[in-house]
Amino acid sequence: MNYRHAFHAGNFADLAKHVILTRLLGEITAAGPPVTVIDTHAGAGLYDLRAESSRRTGEAQIGAQRLMEAAAAPRAFDELRAAVRRCNAPGELRYYPGSPVLITAALRPGDRYIACELRPDDYAALKQVLPRESGSLAHRGDGWTHAARVAPRTPARLLVLVDPPFERGDDYEQAVGLIRRILPDNPSSVFAIWTPLKDLATFDAFLGDVEDVAAGRPVLAAEVRLRPLADPMRLNGCVMVLINAPAEIEAPARAAMEWIAATLGEAGALGRVTKYQMPDPSK
Ligand SMILES: C[S@@+](CC[C@H](N)C(=O)[O-])C[C@H]1O[C@@H](n2cnc3c(N)ncnc32)[C@H](O)[C@@H]1O
Repeated sequence: MNYRHAFHAGNFADLAKHVILTRLLGEITAAGPPVTVIDTHAGAGLYDLRAESSRRTGEAQIGAQRLMEAAAAPRAFDELRAAVRRCNAPGELRYYPGSPVLITAALRPGDRYIACELRPDDYAALKQVLPRESGSLAHRGDGWTHAARVAPRTPARLLVLVDPPFERGDDYEQAVGLIRRILPDNPSSVFAIWTPLKDLATFDAFLGDVEDVAAGRPVLAAEVRLRPLADPMRLNGCVMVLINAPAEIEAPARAAMEWIAATLGEAGALGRVTKYQMPDPSK
């Protein structure tokens, strides 16, 4: 387990993931009964961009810093930009919020948050950033098994964020397996799965599997390519794959992906949102 998110916090992929996450949370918490959010791979929660890890890669400088300096970023980024500002002194960008900080800031009294993290050091940091007097719970251990164990059944409202490091060969399979374990018992649960985009074959195979397990429910792929996928050894882009996302998410997601590609990408960059809805094979 070598992956440390501190090296990558605030990069283009975090912006793509977190703009979708904050917009989803905005829609889901706008009204309705309490919601449970499960974060299968929560990370440390808050990242110091002045730390050696972040300075060594410089990824936040061509990610979060560009977003915070942008005079005309799309409205879709409003919640994310506000969340970043809340973590920092006025006019500064030292800290970047991870999914735990973004999620707990959006939840209402009565909503619940379950954050899973395997690494002891990141788990310790995560515990520090979670609000004490709220429905937030940190779990130290494997997010795949814990999420399947604690996911509430219908009629509970559920959002599952799936954000593994993809350093193990079976992360794609695990993600599909998790959807298969949760969705039948909670058919309207919303899934948001971050995936790297290195080559098209890997992504297409994953998307095909997701469509199969989604069994007719709407699937949306919000995608950023920083460059054409010529070198499969590089992180050329990323995709947020959404199941059962509210329809309102589509337009802001498109605006955000296009902005990231146009602002942070190279020649041949692309941002887009694609909708898929396969017929339910059981019908
Ligand atoms: C990409 S980072 C998560 C970033 C976080 N979701 C965010 O948006 O701020 C992936 C995290 O998963 C953790 N991890 C790796 N394998 C895990 C597992 N099986 N269960 C839970 N956490 C795991 C890593 O230690 C790492 O902190």
